[in-house]
Amino acid sequence: MRTIVSLPGDGIGKTVLPEAIRVLEAVGFQANYVHGDIGWDYWITEGNALPQRTIDLLEEHKIGLFGAITSKPKDEAAKELSPDLQGKGYVYFSPIVGLRQHFNLDICIRPCKAFTGNPLNFIRKDASGGFEEPKVDSVIFRQNTEGMYGGIEWTNPPKQVRDALETHPKMKNFAHVPSEDLAISTRIVSRNACKRIIRSAFEYAKKHGYKNVTVCEKPNVLRETSGMMLGEAKKIAEEYSGIDLWDTNIDAQMMWLTKNPENYGVLVSENMFGDIISDGFAGLVGGLGFACSANIGDTVSVFEPTHGSAPKYETLDPSIVNPIAMVLSACMMLDHLGEIEKSDKIKVAIAEVIKEGKVRTYDMMKLRGGADAISKGACTTQEMTDAIIARLK
Ligand code: NAI
Ligand code: MG
Repeated sequence: MRTIVSLPGDGIGKTVLPEAIRVLEAVGFQANYVHGDIGWDYWITEGNALPQRTIDLLEEHKIGLFGAITSKPKDEAAKELSPDLQGKGYVYFSPIVGLRQHFNLDICIRPCKAFTGNPLNFIRKDASGGFEEPKVDSVIFRQNTEGMYGGIEWTNPPKQVRDALETHPKMKNFAHVPSEDLAISTRIVSRNACKRIIRSAFEYAKKHGYKNVTVCEKPNVLRETSGMMLGEAKKIAEEYSGIDLWDTNIDAQMMWLTKNPENYGVLVSENMFGDIISDGFAGLVGGLGFACSANIGDTVSVFEPTHGSAPKYETLDPSIVNPIAMVLSACMMLDHLGEIEKSDKIKVAIAEVIKEGKVRTYDMMKLRGGADAISKGACTTQEMTDAIIARLK
């Protein structure tokens, strides 16, 4: 039997992950689950939010189902470290970014498909003053390991770094700035990673019948990095007749989100831009309670909702957060494992629950999150899962 590494992490990650496993069990997916330590507790007690033993588990079993972690800026993280570890040179790094880099999970897939009847779906005015609901069905391919999330950055850069940068004529503009007043974050992309993410996007479009792939970058300004993405896309596109290659600038794309989101099929971007447009598209189809993702590498893959640990809800009992993003992430895991039929069954069940509209989490009711949401008619996290399970045929 297959073994899945279960990585609940922090906050509501611990709430939603067991719900996804309940659904997986109800649909008849047979697996063992082993727990992997990850997140804030291990930062505080061990100075490492991603312990080696967790990496070893993923190395062994290859598939991770991940909830969410809490991340905090460097200085704040350092203050929370257990007193016996303070001042010993531990530096906080986000364990999910660490996982993506360690296992080269370079292909991030984020589908954003509207469910009929979801009250959170984007609506816009039509030309006659009425309203229309565009059918949003887009899948964002985000390069997951490089670019602006590569982690190569400095405040007060060392002399060799500054000297190297001074060889670029544009550094003249910063000649008067002392190094301690300079902060630098890099955006480094490699041709091979560009090719891999673009090819994955085209392959997905071909397999799932999408008619266009949009490279969403900014090559007019970021001439080197965005330029390389677009250049490689143009070459790869020639191998896929019947799929159009479009390119948009990230800023314009955010504007077009509310004008014609239904026109876009697959989109592909560098790390930071992929993060931005995937949140943008997710907002059109229900937001964080619905946004799922897959991080795919050559040998290891990790599936996770794109939301975080939502600390303000972690202690609410009963819990009110929406488990659908986590359950859809589990469906992506099933798809990856070739269990398409089980995945489809779960998605049909979710679609039916949403369409019927009787069981809704607080976000679907447009309520403020809080303990009182339930008295206002919102269901609990567990009731949403129960409703989905009841629909599994
Ligand atoms: P968040 O995603 O945790 O929460 C933002 C808001 O979205 C919440 O207050 C809540 O209103 C809503 N929300 C999130 N998940 C929901 C769900 N399942 N159902 C209904 N509503 C939901 O993002 P935030 O507040 O910016 O960050 C909280 C912590 O999570 C931070 O420490 C951050 O670093 C971390 N984070 C971790 C991520 C990960 O594990 N991949 C991703 C994003 C943030
Ligand atoms: Mg994000």
